[in-house]
Amino acid sequence: MKGKSVLITGANSGIGKETAKTLSREGATIHMVCRSRKRAEDAKKDIIKYSKNDDVHIHLCDLASIGSIKEYGLKLREEIDSLDVLINNAGAMFGSRQLTLDGLEMTFALNHMGYFLNTHYLLDLIRKGSMKRIISVASVGHRSVSKIDFNDLQSSKRYSQIPVYGRSKLYNIYFTQILADKIKDEGIMVNCLHPGVVSTNFGNTANWYMKVALPLGRRFMINATKGATTSVYLASSPKVNGITGKYFDKGKIAEPSKLARKREHAQRIWDITMDICGINEFGVID
Ligand SMILES: NC(=O)c1ccc[n+]([C@@H]2O[C@H](COP(=O)([O-])OP(=O)(O)OC[C@H]3O[C@@H](n4cnc5c(N)ncnc54)[C@H](OP(=O)(O)O)[C@@H]3O)[C@@H](O)[C@H]2O)c1
Repeated sequence: MKGKSVLITGANSGIGKETAKTLSREGATIHMVCRSRKRAEDAKKDIIKYSKNDDVHIHLCDLASIGSIKEYGLKLREEIDSLDVLINNAGAMFGSRQLTLDGLEMTFALNHMGYFLNTHYLLDLIRKGSMKRIISVASVGHRSVSKIDFNDLQSSKRYSQIPVYGRSKLYNIYFTQILADKIKDEGIMVNCLHPGVVSTNFGNTANWYMKVALPLGRRFMINATKGATTSVYLASSPKVNGITGKYFDKGKIAEPSKLARKREHAQRIWDITMDICGINEFGVID
């Protein structure tokens, strides 16, 4: 990955940080997108110590805020000319329903819109990169979803952390499929993945049930270094060349759930998200 640039959201913790460490050690320039300067600086030290490569840069952004993504996205476009790999990774599960400043349900805003809008602002940079890869960390949790209530995408009628999280990860797969189709003629590879069940800080914002269950389950989980394997593979392996629109698990193409293969649902979620974001043409910044 020498001479290649990789942007990773949520690179200060868990899977994102381990992905950054490995790709940094392989010689990549790392752009960390994080919301806390302190947590990002601490992680940056660890990444550099591990990789012996100090080409690591911090960009601050609250990925649950439309305004914050726009501000950092526009600034980044002035700072760098191109990007080889974009890894949408930052995400969480929330124990209770919270609203963002934009009035959106937090899981929907961070896990789905954060990926969508981040990619919208950075697509031009990927177009100018040599590797042309967009990766989204989804989850096997999408399989827990049996239907989508299109009249209540913000979960205002009923909120339960696991299905709400599962739906946000289903939307990551939809996003991957539609975007891959839209830009397939440009040679850009758009894929998503399940990282495994990984011992990270994930669950810290979930409810008491998850907080009790997670520590008990940790010994059955893989560590974050192993959890980063598929992200690293999709970012760097030449074997991924020419593969787009796929869902990966354990480093291999896997079939997502039946619901995740419903193209009309994927298109509907895409259209609704475009409306919420006020975007006319994806990847085109006026
Ligand atoms: N762990 C698993 O078993 C598992 C399984 C399937 C999928 N995943 C997915 O893997 C991805 C990474 O999760 P992880 O397990 O590595 O969890 P993690 O250790 O909690 O890392 C999550 C990262 O997202 C960042 N983040 C959260 N809210 C943010 C915001 N508003 N703005 C900017 N950054 C924000 C966090 O930053 P802070 O440190 O500032 O909070 C952190 O860097 C997530 O998308 C998750 O859904 C995880």
